[in-house]
Order: sequence, then C-alpha cells, then structure tokens
Amino acid sequence: MLTKRPRGTNDFLPEDTCKWQYVENLLREICHEFGYEEIRTPIFEETELFLRGVGDTTDIVQKEMYTFEDAGGRSVTLRPENTASAVRAYVENKMAYRSQPTKLFYIGPMFRYERPQAGRFRQFHQFGVECFGAASPAADAEIITLAWEFYHRLGLQNLELNLNSVGCPECRPAYRKALQDFLRPNLDKLCDSCRERFDKNPLRILDCKNPECQQYLVGAPTTLDALCDDCREHFNAVNKYLDAVGIPYKINERLVRGLDYYTNTAFEILLSDIGAQSAVCGGGRYNRLVEEIGGKSTPGVGFALGMERVFNALASQGIELPAGRKVDVFVAALDAEAGEESFRLTTELRRQGLAAAQDVMGRSLKAQFKYADKFAAAYTLIVGGDELARGAVQLRDMAAGEQQEVAIADVVSLICAKFHK
Ligand code: HAM
Repeated sequence: MLTKRPRGTNDFLPEDTCKWQYVENLLREICHEFGYEEIRTPIFEETELFLRGVGDTTDIVQKEMYTFEDAGGRSVTLRPENTASAVRAYVENKMAYRSQPTKLFYIGPMFRYERPQAGRFRQFHQFGVECFGAASPAADAEIITLAWEFYHRLGLQNLELNLNSVGCPECRPAYRKALQDFLRPNLDKLCDSCRERFDKNPLRILDCKNPECQQYLVGAPTTLDALCDDCREHFNAVNKYLDAVGIPYKINERLVRGLDYYTNTAFEILLSDIGAQSAVCGGGRYNRLVEEIGGKSTPGVGFALGMERVFNALASQGIELPAGRKVDVFVAALDAEAGEESFRLTTELRRQGLAAAQDVMGRSLKAQFKYADKFAAAYTLIVGGDELARGAVQLRDMAAGEQQEVAIADVVSLICAKFHK
C-alpha cells in the first residue's frame, strides 16, 4: 500500500512552487527596502526554549507541539513558531553588540499538532520579521507597514488590520484582576477552557469564540482602559504613525494573542474571504522575551504571516501570479548520430546562462517536437543530417515561424545575442 503524506501536510508541485518563489522574492525585496536581513535557525530546538518562550499556558505548548526524545535522550521540539528561536539566536550570537536595532526576517516551515482544516495545517510556512533593540512605537508601526505593503503589492483587497495594546508588567496585573473580578460571578457558566484559563491566563478568555462565553464578556473591562501612561502613549503613537502613512486600522479591545510573550502592541490582519481561519498575519511587541530567554533586557517587536493563507487569499480573490520562467531554446537531435553534438550545444547554451531543453529519453524527432511544445521555447535548434555533415544546424524562430541554416561555430553566439547574453 502507498504510504501517504502525513495528515495536515502538503506537497507543493512545480506549478505551486513557482508561485511560492514569486511571493518569496517579493518578500525578500520588501525586506531589503525596509532593512530586514534574513536569519535561518534550526527546525528543531530544545523543548525548554518553547516552554519559556511561547509560554506554558498556551495551546501551542499544552497541546500542539511535536516533541520527542532524540537518541541522546534530549527532549527536542519541531519549532511551532520562530520568534523564540530568533530571540535565542540573537542572545546566543551576541547580536546585541552589533549596531542596533537588529532587524531580521525568516521564511520556513513551522509545526503544530492542530486539527487540520482549510487554512490550518500541521506543517505550515511562515514569513516573519523580528526587530530587537528598538523600544520606539516607530518600530511597531514599521513592521505593520511592511506587512501591509506586502499584501497591497500582491493586490489583495478587504484586509482588516486589528490593533490593541495588552499593556505591560506594570499595568497588566491590575487589569487581570479587574477582568477576573468581572467574570467571577459567572465563572461556572463559562466553557471548560475559559474556566481553566481563569487563573492562569484570564486575558485569553477575551477571545473565546464560544457564543455563551461571549455573552458573559459584554461590558468587561478592556486592556485599553487599564493602560498605564507609558503604554497609552506608546499605543497612541503607533496609531499616529499608521495614520501618517494612510494605513487604516480597527481598534479591537478583545484582541489578545495566543502566545504569552506580548507586551503593549498586539495586532492581526484578517481577511474574511478565506473562511474561518481568517488571520493572515499576527504579531506584536514582546519587551520581556529576550530577558526571559537569558539575554539582557531588550525590547522586541515582530509578526509572522501564514504563507498558505496568502495563496488561499490570492485564489479566493482571483489574483493570478506571473507564470514561472520560460525555456529559451529547445535543442532537437534529428537522429542518433546527432546526439552528442546536440548535447554539446545544449550544454554550451546553458553555460552561457540560457535555459535550454533537450530530450533525454531517446525519442523520435516527431516525439521530440511534441515534447518541445510543453516548453513553448522561443527558438528550436535542429541538429543532424546533411547540415551537421556541413558543420551547420537549423535555427527556428518559433514566433516568426522562420527557419535558417547557421554554422555550428556561430550558432551559440547568435542565440545569445538574441537574448542579450
Ligand atoms: P501566530 O499568530 O501563532 O503568531 O501565527 C502567525 C500566523 O501564522 C497566523 O496569523 C497564521 O496566518 C499562520 N498560522 C498559524 N498557525 C497556522 C496553521 N496551523 N496553519 C496555517 N497557518 C498558520 C506567531 O507565530 C508569532 N511567532 C508571531 C510573531 C512574531 N510575534 C512576534 N513576532
């Protein structure tokens, strides 16, 4: 029996990967414009990193991690997200001693043992950015602008930026208590997971999707009401920067993120077109995380966006991406004797930087032409027969439908000239 791919994972075939490359190139281009440089961290880390980084009361740590013991008896985990790893790499590689801020981006697979559904996978891909060392609200606004710019350049419409502040260790304890006091009279009516969160992480109750729980949240105190002066000033400044560049946002006082490390700004970009898993991007500030992971106290802010959800969104809005790169020349061998010369010419064209295709299946000339159709090459080179004996080949311009005899000695430079190579 055929072994199938694991549930919640995908195979991306060539017709998909050319789209992924287009989107990844766009992201790299935008990162360059915004001064973000790429970091690549291991796919697995010591489990301890995520317990400390993501937080042990989160769904990710409690239910969703791919954790196993390696042959050396160490507990390791496939990364469920990349912020904790980026922080570890920042601390371990002493990046704080470089000129600050440190602005990093990453693209790669993440792993969460979730219930697979449209837009939710067990292996999925994130693009994300992390900015270390900048406490200013301009850094928050800059990463939001970067995300917005990306969706805008892809031509996506109907995006909704939701913004909130979850406060800081100064103002959050009082808010937490106010929220618990508000909810306590109805505690026994809340769903199981909300009751569980009540002591450990009551803020998460705010984004419970259960309509029953929602009903008991009406009139609940908001994080914004409870912000200390510094947090309020920071939040207002982020809003002003976004206003200055014309990025619309909705203040959503119920927005709390599913990871424990956030302080101050929390944001998500939503797109209702793609169904229930509408969050295409999420992030915020995490001023305590670097210290938590063993570094000096350092502010940080970042986001990650789900790549699969970008492709869902493009499909649902009917946006086509440019097709993959074309083949420049197809080289056909008229007969078996021409094989070596056509192989040599194909290689020579490739050495000059052209995309050249040839048959490697021993096909007849007729079958080679049929095969060549799939490449839609601009030129076809026909090698063999009397021409070959004369030291020449036939060169066919496919668009013009014209064919000419060219000396083998000249043909590569002639084709290169047509492609300005
Ligand atoms: P997150 O909200 O858990 O944040 O994930 C960010 C994005 O990844 C989501 O908005 C969604 O688009 C995508 N995503 C998450 N889980 C899945 C899944 N199972 N299948 C498909 N897509 C998914 C983080 O991961 C934080 N590290 C973001 C961050 C960076 N905060 C600060 N810096």
